[in-house]
Amino acid sequence: MSEPRVEVFATLESLSAAAAEEIAHALSEAAAGGRATIALAGGSTPRIMYRHLAEHHRKLPWEHVHVFWSDERYVPHNAPESNYRMARETLLDYVPVVADNVHPMPTVAPSPEDAARTYEELLLREFGRLPCFDIIVLGVGADGHTASLFPGSPALDEGERWVVPAQAPSRPQQRLTLTVPVINASRAVHFLVSGASKYEALHCALQGGDCPAALVQPTAGTLTWWVDEAAMYGGDIDTW
Ligand code: 6PG
Repeated sequence: MSEPRVEVFATLESLSAAAAEEIAHALSEAAAGGRATIALAGGSTPRIMYRHLAEHHRKLPWEHVHVFWSDERYVPHNAPESNYRMARETLLDYVPVVADNVHPMPTVAPSPEDAARTYEELLLREFGRLPCFDIIVLGVGADGHTASLFPGSPALDEGERWVVPAQAPSRPQQRLTLTVPVINASRAVHFLVSGASKYEALHCALQGGDCPAALVQPTAGTLTWWVDEAAMYGGDIDTW
């Protein structure tokens, strides 16, 4: 694994613009080979970055970009908590992606277990083997979780399956998530982290501590942290 790169910016806006620039470049390069694959994070942090992709990178060959998710809340896709809905509202409704190339995690299957198996089958069809995403976008929770890999979850030890159901401590509790082996097989992982509330979790992950985000160590890919000063140095900016 190559050394993680940590890029620190004054604000969420500036880190989002820089991350969007680099992700757009990587997607364009991959698309030149016929297909680019990206797995999107949910939550709130990536919203501004997605808007930057939509507003400043429309010329990207979106017709060759396949969109997946790194995790999803087990709610209808039109629910306010849906990561799919958030990506549509900030990015996908504003760029010319091909509908058949947008692959949301199913959240209306008979059960989360069925949904996880269904998404695994989709990944097998799309990749033919252990998925190797060109880009995976991730966030970090204040408890050190990433995707829907939460502290103490049995999903953290999953070494074979690519997608599993997971339980979150906060609502909506039922989730679906990519597993660590899939995340670590990607070509490039981009964490977006903002705010003093993430200070402990960010440094736990950077130091390889006991938190799920620290398990993200791409086998052959790159790992980039796009963080703001509040997350990197803590909330009391005056004492820096
Ligand atoms: C989700 C996300 C989750 C998120 C972190 C950080 O479904 O909520 O995938 O892993 O990245 O919880 O969330 P914020 O960006 O809202 O702080």
